[in-house]
Amino acid sequence: MKTQVGIVGAGPAGALLSELLWQAGIENVVLERQSRGYVLERIRAGVLESGTIEILRNAGLGARLNANGHVHETINIAWRAEELLSIDTADRVDRVMMAYGQTAIQEDLYRALDARDRPPRFDADDVELHDVASDRPWISYTHNGIDERLDCDFIAGCDGFHGVTRHAIPGNVRTEFEKVYPFGWLGIMSETKPLPILLYANHQKGFALCSMRSPMLSRYYVQCSLEDTIDDWSDDRFWDELLSRIPSDQAAKIQTGPSIEKSIAPLRSYVAEPMQHGRLFLAGDAAHIVPPTGAKGLNLAVSDVHYLSKGLIDHYTSAGDDYLAGYSKRALTRVWSAVRFSWWLTSLLHRFPDQTPFDQRTQEQELIYLSSSRAAQTALCEQYVGLPL
Ligand code: APR
Ligand code: PHB
Repeated sequence: MKTQVGIVGAGPAGALLSELLWQAGIENVVLERQSRGYVLERIRAGVLESGTIEILRNAGLGARLNANGHVHETINIAWRAEELLSIDTADRVDRVMMAYGQTAIQEDLYRALDARDRPPRFDADDVELHDVASDRPWISYTHNGIDERLDCDFIAGCDGFHGVTRHAIPGNVRTEFEKVYPFGWLGIMSETKPLPILLYANHQKGFALCSMRSPMLSRYYVQCSLEDTIDDWSDDRFWDELLSRIPSDQAAKIQTGPSIEKSIAPLRSYVAEPMQHGRLFLAGDAAHIVPPTGAKGLNLAVSDVHYLSKGLIDHYTSAGDDYLAGYSKRALTRVWSAVRFSWWLTSLLHRFPDQTPFDQRTQEQELIYLSSSRAAQTALCEQYVGLPL
């Protein structure tokens, strides 16, 4: 088979790229290792920057988002389960965030691709890239036990952190940057009415976060040890911990109930540079990971795809290859901003195992400064709602 752009991975990055390219009349094939059901069941973050909302709306993917997304006009940070800083992002930077789950975005994208009769090719195994530095890159894979070959003009590596495409960039060209954090997040989903606000908490027992997916679906997290397993965390223990880490007036508003999902995620920052090599371009988690604090992962995948689709559209409309040639540099500038911000917010809000009393005081003083300085709040909001594309 031959196509213009071969896309590996049908997560938000690969599926959005496919849809944007089809809209510009560029042929593409998406190869996804998992089944459609598996991808749609995956639970991920769910807060969208204003730029992400705009990209999705401009791509005609805004209908359900407009109807069901919940606008967050504030960012709320509690500490010592006493103080609560509530910053109005609309007031500070004239932009807002929106709660809308990645699962819902994934459904919207698959629906759009189905409507074109161009769904991803699911259950594609053993994907391998070939000749990416040449003008004729190709992908080999197996499907239902049959060996297949896909010849492409370009390959987009959208296969997430555990994918294979990044490894097609030779080791002597690729540089990796990594930071692993000494704790995890225990997350639960419960069919209870969420708090109307997004609430982040710094507490001596560790970080906590109250978030939402829909009017009757709440998402909560508490910082936990990397040695913990979900068996260590009964629902009762989870609720006790969560409620003790946030101010009592907020805790009183939380509806508890049985968890319908419970999982532990480690926290990591990771960047692979460059994000392009020959005719291979990486986008999303394939090239970078951020800790979930601040919910930048999905937003970065969308901004990468925004840049990459523009570069590819320029190429095929004879507008030239300059934009595509500058893809890695442009994407990495934004990636590093989000990597730095996620690291900063993670450092501000978590309890580190080796934290000294000095570290604790400086962390607390940063929260006090943030609550008293309009300039500091504006800097936080500008990055939280997302730097311009
Ligand atoms: N062959 C084909 N597909 C693959 C392969 C492979 N070898 N390896 C991985 N994949 C698929 C995965 O099954 C997954 O569906 O690539 C897809 C990558 O999707 P995501 O991991 O969701 O990554 P991305 O699309 O970049 O989206 C980033 O996802 O991880 C979250 O927080 C992150 O919200 C952010 C978003
Ligand atoms: C989530 O809802 O999963 C979420 C929200 C905000 C974050 C991280 C995760 O900063």
